[in-house]
Amino acid sequence: MSYEKITVAEARKETSVGKSVLLHGWVRTRRDSKAGFSFIELNDGTSFGSIQIIAPKELTNYESEVKSITAGCSIAVKGTVKESPGKGQATEVEANEVELLGTADAAAYPLQKKGHSLEFLRSLAHLRVRTNTFGAVARVRNTVSFSIHQFFQENGFFYVHTPIITASDCEGAGQMFHVTTLDADNLPKNENGKVDYTKDFFGKPASLTVSGQLNVETYAHGLSKVYTFGPTFRAENSNTARHAAEFWMVEPEIAFCELQDNMVWAEKFIKRIIRDVLRDCAEEMEFFQKQNDAALIETLRHVLTSDFVRCSYTEAVDILIKSGRKFDYRVQWGVDLQSEHERYLTEEHFKSPVILYNYPKEIKAFYMKLNGDGKTVRAMDVLVPKVGEIIGGSEREWNLDLLEQRMKELELSPEDYWWYLDLRRYGSVPHSGFGLGLERMLMFVTGVANIRDVLPFPRTPGSCDF
Ligand code: 4AD
Ligand code: MG
Repeated sequence: MSYEKITVAEARKETSVGKSVLLHGWVRTRRDSKAGFSFIELNDGTSFGSIQIIAPKELTNYESEVKSITAGCSIAVKGTVKESPGKGQATEVEANEVELLGTADAAAYPLQKKGHSLEFLRSLAHLRVRTNTFGAVARVRNTVSFSIHQFFQENGFFYVHTPIITASDCEGAGQMFHVTTLDADNLPKNENGKVDYTKDFFGKPASLTVSGQLNVETYAHGLSKVYTFGPTFRAENSNTARHAAEFWMVEPEIAFCELQDNMVWAEKFIKRIIRDVLRDCAEEMEFFQKQNDAALIETLRHVLTSDFVRCSYTEAVDILIKSGRKFDYRVQWGVDLQSEHERYLTEEHFKSPVILYNYPKEIKAFYMKLNGDGKTVRAMDVLVPKVGEIIGGSEREWNLDLLEQRMKELELSPEDYWWYLDLRRYGSVPHSGFGLGLERMLMFVTGVANIRDVLPFPRTPGSCDF
């Protein structure tokens, strides 16, 4: 007899009924029936749902092996797909052979019981992908990543690989991890007693990138529409549920584009990702809705069909002051908005995603285009319910004199950014872009509350395991 090797996802489809199949996976549960056979719930990660295997006692290894199968064991099953009489599943598999591939000692395997806390599962980052929650997060993360590429590819953007190691601080915030091969216990010093970086690997200080923007801007000045998508590193010592030291950011950069069009791109982009997740991860989304937020899918559908509110920073500050709310941080024009303010605006005041724009120049990065008022820059942040800031972007300053002047005000040395300034010397154009934090987007679509649970192996202050 020949068996077709298929996945659990395929075996669960009604169209597989009647097929002789070979399945592989990890056992979620096994129980004996009184009638003398075993029910095995098998999952291989290809779909949220598992498949039920019925192993009859006539199997030659039934007493010796099948009955010893416990949660976490890996097995191979040959059998026939049948229509299932049980509720909530279209099919099941009647086994002709069950082979035990890898055992999982029941006394030691930590994922025996269902319903472990997310905190506990963080200490098992190497095994947690075998749970419902983390399998679902992994599949949604995959769908979102693919959707990001599809969106940009379909819209004429080129994918650019920007460097991970850099000598420039894009955000000018000094939150960078240093990259060095110097011996920390025996640092070479120069005549001023400072570390002599000319002896270091690159001959000067280097860091992990906080953003690919400066590099991707150069490619926008030659390919017109580009995006970079990769790991990003920030040594901000903020132990919050929304900050990670290593996260993934997607950054489009668009030549011949001003702030208003940048907002249009950001809105279309977010809607596209939501559409794809609702369409391609239906089982996962139903699960997240049950587990995290009873209004999850409805909220996302609403986001899909409504326009994002546009609101200037100045208007937003007015709204916050007039709200009569007692915030932990008091609001006045000029302060950076905190998560509590962002969430008030998007969750309570507008009840929709909001694009805030025209921020005071003092609280934004050096490269943003100065408005005619001399006080605000053409920045934009996209805020969504529960998460707050999900996108940060701007129109870029493309006037050489204004950019150099701003850098001097911020005590950044134009010589260090000579190549970036060359873009303003040779064929300068209006251009804009933004950065979407992949993990923030995942938190938004799944309702998962902590960034540590949407990253496969989170890196946060004091924590770099696995
Ligand atoms: O607002 P940010 O700092 O903007 C930039 O880095 C620009 N260079 C982007 C650009 O215009 N090309 O970061 C962009 C987004 C934030 O809105 C947030 O979603 C995410 O990156 N982000 C983080 N996500 C997780 N952990 C952190 N520590 C993050 N810092 C920023
Ligand atoms: Mg930001």
